[in-house]
Amino acid sequence: MSAGMKPAVLVARAMYPETLARLQQHFEVEANPDDEVFSPVALSARLVGKVGAITTGSERIDAAVLAAHPQLRVVANMAVGYNNLDIAAFDAAGVLATNTPDVLTETTADFGFALMMATARRITESENYLRAGRWTQWRYDMFTGPDVHGATLGILGMGRIGQAIARRGALGFGMKVIYTNRSRLAPELEAPLGARYVDKATLLREADHLVLVLPYSASSHHAIGAAELAQMKPTATLTNVARGGIVDDAALAVALAERRIAAAGLDVFEGEPAVNPALLDLPNVVLTPHIASASERTRRAMADLAADNLIAALTGGRPLTPVNPGVLPLRA
Ligand code: GLV
Repeated sequence: MSAGMKPAVLVARAMYPETLARLQQHFEVEANPDDEVFSPVALSARLVGKVGAITTGSERIDAAVLAAHPQLRVVANMAVGYNNLDIAAFDAAGVLATNTPDVLTETTADFGFALMMATARRITESENYLRAGRWTQWRYDMFTGPDVHGATLGILGMGRIGQAIARRGALGFGMKVIYTNRSRLAPELEAPLGARYVDKATLLREADHLVLVLPYSASSHHAIGAAELAQMKPTATLTNVARGGIVDDAALAVALAERRIAAAGLDVFEGEPAVNPALLDLPNVVLTPHIASASERTRRAMADLAADNLIAALTGGRPLTPVNPGVLPLRA
C-alpha cells in the first residue's frame, strides 16, 4: 500500500448504507450490494489485496484462505458465533477474528423464548389450520399442548443468551430452571434464577422444554441425536436457536413423526438455508429462517460493532470484542 492510500477491506454481504459510509471514511471498501453469497472461489477472488473483511456465518475462512491472502490482518464476523472461522488457523497466521457478543443477547433470548412458546402452544400449526379454512368449530381438546408457566426449562449451554432465557423463564413464567454447561455458574448467578446445574442425562430426562444455546464445534456436533431424543419426555419440546449441526435434523424428524417428543422449534438447520425436507412435512415443528437476533436495533448494533472492531484493529486502536486477542498487537 503506498502512502496516502486507504487500506482495502471487503464487506462480504449486503450492509446498512450508514455502516458502509462510516467504513468508507477509513477504507477503500468493496461492498456486495447485490448480496451474492460468494462461493469459496469467489470469496477468495474478492479478498485479493484486502487487509480486513466483515463476514457473516455464510463465509468460511480457514487455513487455506488465510494462506492464500497473507496480507489479511482482521476478519470481523457479524455474529456472536464464529464456527465459520477456523480460530486455530487465525492464531497460527497471526490474524485477528472478532465477533458481536452482548449486543444481541437480549434480542436473541426474546426470540428463543418466543420460539419455545410458539412450539409448546402450537401457534404456527394452529394458524396454518385456520388459514387453510379448516376451523369450523371450537372443540375442548383442539390444539392442546404443554404449559410453559411452571414447567421445567432445560438449557443446554448456559452462556449469556442461555442465562437471559433462564431469566425470562424463572422470573416471568415461574419455571424451574435446570442447565448443563461446560462449567457451573457462580452461585450469585444461579441463585436469582433458582437454576440447578445437572448432567446431560438429567437435563434430557427432566426438561419439559429444552432450549439449545451452545456454540457449534466438533464437540457439540449432533449433541442432540436419536439417543438423546429417546431420553426426553414424550410431552417435551426442543428449541434450537444456536446452530445447525448441534441437532441431527434427520433423527429429529423421525422423533417428531413418531411423537417421541411433542414438538420442536428450529431457527437454525444443518446445511441451511436448505432445510431437511422431512421437517417441512411435519405439523409439530415451528421453522424460522435464522432470525433470532433480527430486531432492527440489534442488527444495527451488530453491524456497528463489526465495523468498530474492523476500524479499531486497522487504525491502531483496541478492538472491542476480539475472539483471539492473543494475536494482538497486529503486525503493521
Ligand atoms: C447468529 O447466528 C450469530 O451467531 O450471531
